[in-house]
Amino acid sequence: MANEVLHWLQLKPGGLYLDGTLGGGGHSRLILENAVNSRLIGLDRDPAALKEASRVLAPFGGRVSLHHATFDQAGEILQQLGVEGLDGMLLDLGVSSHQLDTAERGFSFRQDAPLDMRMNPLAGMTAAEVVNQADEAELVRIFFEYGEERYSRRIVRKLLQQRAERAIIRTGELAQLVRDAVPGGRRPARIHPATRVFQALRIYVNDELGQVQRGVEAGIYLLKPGGRLVVISFHSLEDRIVKHLFREKAKGCTCPPRLPVCQCDQSPDIKILTRKGVKAGAVEVEQNVRSRSAILRAVERC
Ligand SMILES: C[S@@+](CC[C@H](N)C(=O)[O-])C[C@H]1O[C@@H](n2cnc3c(N)ncnc32)[C@H](O)[C@@H]1O
Repeated sequence: MANEVLHWLQLKPGGLYLDGTLGGGGHSRLILENAVNSRLIGLDRDPAALKEASRVLAPFGGRVSLHHATFDQAGEILQQLGVEGLDGMLLDLGVSSHQLDTAERGFSFRQDAPLDMRMNPLAGMTAAEVVNQADEAELVRIFFEYGEERYSRRIVRKLLQQRAERAIIRTGELAQLVRDAVPGGRRPARIHPATRVFQALRIYVNDELGQVQRGVEAGIYLLKPGGRLVVISFHSLEDRIVKHLFREKAKGCTCPPRLPVCQCDQSPDIKILTRKGVKAGAVEVEQNVRSRSAILRAVERC
C-alpha cells in the first residue's frame, strides 16, 4: 500500500518519521525518497529484518537511525535519542513475506520446519514450547481467541493425545494433526485446515495484540500536533483494536449525554482521517495476494 501510505502520512520536507515495522525497508525508503531532508527512525524486533533494512537504507546515510526493538518501546528509543515529537509514524503490522517464506522460521504450514514462529528468535517461547507445555484450557483459549477456530476443543484433544506419545516439534506434524482432527466434510473449503491454528500460535508467541494495543496508544502521544499515525492491519483482531483505540482517543467529552453542560473538560487527542479503513487497490491485490486482507487507518494528532 505504498501510495496510500504516502498519501496519508502527508510527508513534510525536513520531517522526522518513525517506521515501527521496518521489514525489508521498503516503506522507509519511500518516506526518505519522498520527503526532502527528512530523517527516519526505524525499528524491528527481527534482527534479520534489521540487517536487510540497513542494507536497503544505507544510501540515506545519517538521515537514518535503526534500532532492534519492538514498537511498543518507541517512546524509550525516542527518549534515548533526545527526540521530542514525530511528524509521522507507520506500523505495517504482522509478519513479512520474507519471514513467511523462510521455512526455518517456522511460520508456515506449507513447508516442514522447526515449529518456532518467533519474530525475534533471540527471545521468548517458541510455538513448539507452547504447544507442548500449555495446558488444555490455555490451548483451547489460544486457538479460539486468536484463530477464531471453531474446532479448537477437538484439535486440542488430538494434540494432547499426540504429545503424550512424543513432542510436536515440526510445522508439518502440527499441520497434519490439525487436518486429522477436523473431519473432512467440515474442513474450510478455501483455506488450509491449519491456517487458523498457525495464525493463533503466531499471535500468541509474539504477543501481537498486546504490542498493537500498547504501540498504537503510545504512538499517538509521540506525535507532534498535526503529526500522523498510519497503521496497516492484516486481520480483524488487530484492526478491531486499532479502530477502537482510535475512536476512544478521538472522543472529546466523556460526560453522560443527560448532563446539559460538559463537566469532564476532555478534548480529543486525535482526528480520525479514514472513517472506514482503506483497502488495497485491485491492481495491488492482483500483484500481491497477501495485500487482499490489508486495511489501513490513519489519524492526525490534535
Ligand atoms: C509486514 S512487515 C513490514 C514490511 C515493511 N513495511 C516493508 O516495507 O518492507 C512487518 C515487520 O514488522 C516486524 N514487527 C512485527 N511486530 C513488531 C513489533 N511489535 N515491533 C517491532 N517490529 C515488529 C516484523 O518483524 C516484520 O519485519
